[in-house]
Amino acid sequence: MDRKLVCLISQSEIAAIVKQLAQSLDRDYAQRSPVMISILKGSFIFLADLVRAMNTPISTIEFMRLSSYGALTVSSGQAEIVMGVPEQVVKGRDVIVIEDIMDTGITTTTVLAYLERYHPASLKLCALLDKPDRRRVPVTIDYLGFTFPDRFIVGYGIDYARQYRQLPEIYALEEQHRVREPLV
Ligand code: PRP
Repeated sequence: MDRKLVCLISQSEIAAIVKQLAQSLDRDYAQRSPVMISILKGSFIFLADLVRAMNTPISTIEFMRLSSYGALTVSSGQAEIVMGVPEQVVKGRDVIVIEDIMDTGITTTTVLAYLERYHPASLKLCALLDKPDRRRVPVTIDYLGFTFPDRFIVGYGIDYARQYRQLPEIYALEEQHRVREPLV
């Protein structure tokens, strides 16, 4: 089976949405200096564009990493945090979690529960993409770019088998059935 890339969102469309999200954050965080926490690896490009489109001074940018979850972890609705953040970064601060894509919601639910334990002043979620048809646990997305039906999405930081993160656009990765030539 071959796979083909179908472009879903162009660079200019991404830039327009990132600008809108940045303006919403600037409006809501005026007079505050939020902490941005990016969930690796997928969100690194979105984060880089988003913070450069914002005018609000950001107090610190931090990163978290979670392990891929196996079947057992999925059923428990938890993913394992392999790189967290120091408590003092979160305690009493206005925290914004940055995700590239929301799927089952398990990763983000785990992140938000972990950060809540450190008692932030506020905790919000900003995600570029959402596939709500895939959700297993409910999550409130405070700032959202695009919503998609359940398609395999790559590019702009999102991978398939470690490939495609560097693509500047967002693509659907679709299966392509090879047509076999007749033998005679
Ligand atoms: C992706 C994405 C989110 C998570 C969403 O990360 O970046 O963090 O999956 O999926 P969920 O809603 O089902 O939990 P992934 O685990 O593929 O790691 P990566 O970002 O390092 O590629």
